[in-house]
Order: sequence, then structure tokens, then C-alpha cells
Amino acid sequence: MFSGNQKPFAPACERNKDPILAALRQVIRSSDRHLLEVGSGTGQHAVYMARHFPQLVWHTSDLPPAHAGIRAWLESAGVPSIQPPVAYEAGRDDFPAADASTGFDVVYSANTLHIIGWDQVLALIDDLGTHLSSGARVVFYGPFNRGGEYTAPSNAEFDRWLKQQNPVSAIRDFEAVEQAMQSAGFQCRQDMPMPANNSLLVFHRL
Ligand SMILES: C[S@@+](CC[C@H](N)C(=O)[O-])C[C@H]1O[C@@H](n2cnc3c(N)ncnc32)[C@H](O)[C@@H]1O
Repeated sequence: MFSGNQKPFAPACERNKDPILAALRQVIRSSDRHLLEVGSGTGQHAVYMARHFPQLVWHTSDLPPAHAGIRAWLESAGVPSIQPPVAYEAGRDDFPAADASTGFDVVYSANTLHIIGWDQVLALIDDLGTHLSSGARVVFYGPFNRGGEYTAPSNAEFDRWLKQQNPVSAIRDFEAVEQAMQSAGFQCRQDMPMPANNSLLVFHRL
């Protein structure tokens, strides 16, 4: 159990939360009602972002081992629009539901595509294509290769480190993600450069 100052803490979330928030402000609409975060991690992004979008119910999700940490952040933040974490492991679990009457307007996932295996990336994209309706948006944040090349020496080093941790992890090619998303019914409408050689990709369900 986590409590008080024992909450899990990811320094990267503190560094990237403001640039990501600024980008999300361009994507999230006043008419949006439900956002699903895939791979909420510590829960830091949820508690920081959600309070800026009071029209949204912010649904957190991750694998069960992450849930206690996410709950600890939610309890200390006291933002009632954030939902407790549900179990969602792409490629294994059923896609979460927003509520009985409607689907998600936005799915947001930061720093997950390079962690999960490519098969799981494809399973996630398949779920998105199956469960999101026309007009819904998907936001992926993280490092991506371009034209089969790293965009910076630091990303090449990060990719080597990722593969040492888990051979299925890897920085993904933007073009491969875009192709899979297109096949699932999405169009990439924004490709925003972000600090530290990351990108924020916005796909719209057609
Ligand atoms: C690097 S962390 C990113 C956490 C947070 N979004 C952030 O930006 O700090 C990757 C997250 O993906 C989750 N994850 C691992 N496999 C997954 C899967 N198959 N489907 C969804 N999430 C997964 C991990 O539990 C972890 O919380």
C-alpha cells in the first residue's frame, strides 16, 4: 500500500506535464465528456491534467500492480472527476467502458508504445478502432523514430536501454504506428514536436 509521501514518483512526469497539458488543450473540446488514460503509471499525469478539464471524467487504467500507487495519488489530490484505475493490459484485457450509454471521446497514452511489445501495440490499436466512434481522438506521447532513424543520439541510447530491460520494448517507427492506425480507421491530424525529442501524435477516428 502507498500512503502520504510514499506515493510513487516519476521525475519525467514532472518535466513533461506542462508541455503535454498545453498540447492537450489543443485537442480536448468543451463537449468532451470521457477520457481514458491507457497506462496511467504513477497517476501523476491524471491528477495534474484532469483538474484543467473540469468537463471531463478522467478514467485511469493500468495493470493491477500499478493500481495502489495511482489510488494514492488520487486520494491525495482529491479530484472527484478522476476515476479509480481499471485493469487494462492491451492484448489481454477487454477494452474499458466509459459508461453504459456512451464511449470515450479521447484516449490518452503517454510513454507506453515503446514499453509494450509490438503485438500489444497492434492489439491496443485494434481495440481503439473497434471501440471508438467517429470524431473520437487518440493521443500518443513519447519518442518515435522517423524514416527508420532515431531522431537524436539520446533516443538511440534510450532504445538500447529499453531492449536491455525487455527485448520486446523499442522506440516505434512513427510510420508503422500511423499505418496501423490508418488501417484501424484513424487519420493523424497533428504531429507535435515536444521537448526532449518526444512527439505528441493526435489521431482522429474517421
Ligand atoms: C513507462 S510507463 C508510462 C506511465 C505514464 N503514462 C507516464 O507517462 O509516466 C508504461 C506504462 O504502461 C503500462 N503497461 C505495460 N504493459 C501494458 C499493456 N499491455 N497495456 C497497457 N499498459 C501497459 C505499465 O504498467 C506502465 O505503467
